[in-house]
Amino acid sequence: MNWEAILAPYAQVVEELKVKLKGMRKQFEHESRHSPIEFITGRVKPVPSILEKAEKKDIPIRDIDTEMQDIAGLRVVCQFVEDIYTVVDMLRSRKDFNIVEEKDYISRRKASGYRSFHMIIEYPVETIHGMKMVIAEIQIRTLAMNFWATNEHSLNYKYKGRIPEQIKTRLQRAAEAAFKLDEEMSAIKNEVQEAQRIFHRW
Ligand code: GTP
Ligand code: MG
Repeated sequence: MNWEAILAPYAQVVEELKVKLKGMRKQFEHESRHSPIEFITGRVKPVPSILEKAEKKDIPIRDIDTEMQDIAGLRVVCQFVEDIYTVVDMLRSRKDFNIVEEKDYISRRKASGYRSFHMIIEYPVETIHGMKMVIAEIQIRTLAMNFWATNEHSLNYKYKGRIPEQIKTRLQRAAEAAFKLDEEMSAIKNEVQEAQRIFHRW
């Protein structure tokens, strides 16, 4: 299996989307407006993870292009919950890709406590064999949601998906605390933003 060749269009998409999303952030900065984007990360799913997921979900390798939606993954991290919807609206109005699906795990959090807004998109990328439509997943979340998800992901990894009940309960409480933090910060958002306009952020 020539994974380098199979994953090349995905790597291209991740790089292109990172440039475009970072461009959005820069434009806000140049206009001295609060940027709804704090930072952006992107990755191509590592081959062992692709194989593991294909096995678990019974996806034949020849079908991963259509059946595995997170081979190309982008993450947009925001300061405030409201920023997430600003980003979502901007992504919806773009003409350079199609939105395949939206999953709002903010208004409906997952049982684990996970919160984020997901957008599955179909992005046209030019390859040496012509244009190819590549599926990518964009996760949009606050810093607090990201903190929670990163820690929970580590624990899931450590416990191979079987986190002890006691820790699960703690994680659910932590998720609620993170949600509360987002709510409290939203309540003083204008104060924070005004301060950040006056005193340059690090
Ligand atoms: P999967 O990617 O296998 O989860 O497919 P799915 O169709 O169930 O998609 P879903 O929207 O549930 O999850 C997509 C991605 O969101 C995952 O690959 C993770 O990156 C993230 N995610 C979903 N649920 C959780 C969760 O409970 N904890 C953490 N840390 N991340 C999650
Ligand atoms: Mg899932």
